[in-house]
Amino acid sequence: MADNPLDSLFSRLGRFPDVESANLQAWDATDKLLLDSATDILASGAVQPGRLAIIGDRYGALTLGALALTAATRSTAAGSTLAGSGDGPVRVHQDLITGEQALRRNASALGVDGGFEQHQLGAGLLAGATLVLLQLPKSLAELEEIADAVARHADPGVVLLAGGRVKHMSLGMNAVLERYFGEVQPQLARQKSRILLARGPRPATNAPPFPVAEANAELGLTVCARGAVFAGTGLDIGTRFLLEFLPDMPQARRVVDLGCGTGILAAMYARANPGARVTATDQSAAAVESARATADANGLADRVTALQDDAMATLPDASADLILLNPPFHVGAAVHAGAGIKLIEAAGRVLAPGGELWTVFNSHLHYQPALQRLVGPTREVGRNPKFTVTASIRKSAGV
Ligand SMILES: C[S@@+](CC[C@H](N)C(=O)[O-])C[C@H]1O[C@@H](n2cnc3c(N)ncnc32)[C@H](O)[C@@H]1O
Repeated sequence: MADNPLDSLFSRLGRFPDVESANLQAWDATDKLLLDSATDILASGAVQPGRLAIIGDRYGALTLGALALTAATRSTAAGSTLAGSGDGPVRVHQDLITGEQALRRNASALGVDGGFEQHQLGAGLLAGATLVLLQLPKSLAELEEIADAVARHADPGVVLLAGGRVKHMSLGMNAVLERYFGEVQPQLARQKSRILLARGPRPATNAPPFPVAEANAELGLTVCARGAVFAGTGLDIGTRFLLEFLPDMPQARRVVDLGCGTGILAAMYARANPGARVTATDQSAAAVESARATADANGLADRVTALQDDAMATLPDASADLILLNPPFHVGAAVHAGAGIKLIEAAGRVLAPGGELWTVFNSHLHYQPALQRLVGPTREVGRNPKFTVTASIRKSAGV
């Protein structure tokens, strides 16, 4: 049997600037299944060749795979090509800036010059699309926002192929898709991945389901959330514990809420410290938009700035006096300490000498050695049955 033409392409893909490790790869069997299914469905004539949109491409496997298959089909002059014929570039939406950067890096390493455009979720991405490939997101809220956008903006004849690892899929996903599409058909599983095929978008009669805003009575704060943001409009229990120590934190001027999610830490610190200027930063576009909306909704937009960035890469060295961090504990679907360590290391770089990093983490994660090594002297300021809060002081140069 001939090798799958995607194998050699995928083996050359990297995850950088996302965390790299021997047990984390830049593609999965779902990418291959989505591309194979898209090729089959076009060949069967069940979907009009036209415009291809891709949502949730992790590191470029779907986009670059679609372009490679299109080039291969054109060279044999056979059938409909995945990216359409002369219908313009493949349009792709990735929530994470690290994914966007990895796609561009992988394209350039493979010598792919153009052929795709990167878009926010919305009409620019989806208008006229007849085929949409989706790596199913983790949360139903994010799926809901995506399903609404596809049904609202794509061509009425659109076919949505939504794929995921079987172990991460739930019947709730079918239910969400059924709210937005007349027909939802689960396909046969292959290599522990499965596709849900949706077609017949229902006409949009309401405003989009996201962003949502909800008053949090415990905090006295309005929290705004897009579908893809961590914890939605809720308050994470680790964040709640870190906020207990708000009165003990130094009164700083240049403050960063690192991995801000909906920006609760940024807003609560800014409100308690009128002299502070807070940068709320996250790698996720949905998080940054949510944090900006939260600041706005609470009258703090003049002192809280939202920034999409990978681990503060665009902030200068020694430019912050205080960083607040509730680190991630997943890289994609895998539990992995690397994502948290990357942010701790970044805090060590961005803190000015004498500046402090206040962190909350699940006590079993043992982040203290990394905090001590990458930032500086670290003391425990609180502990409950689940979480530990620490304060680390940035060493002066040469100390
Ligand atoms: C546990 S959540 C905390 C969210 C928010 N601070 C809160 O307390 O509700 C961790 C956040 O870190 C973000 N994150 C993960 N890796 C990141 C990176 N390399 N750069 C920036 N943000 C990152 C995630 O997108 C997520 O929003």
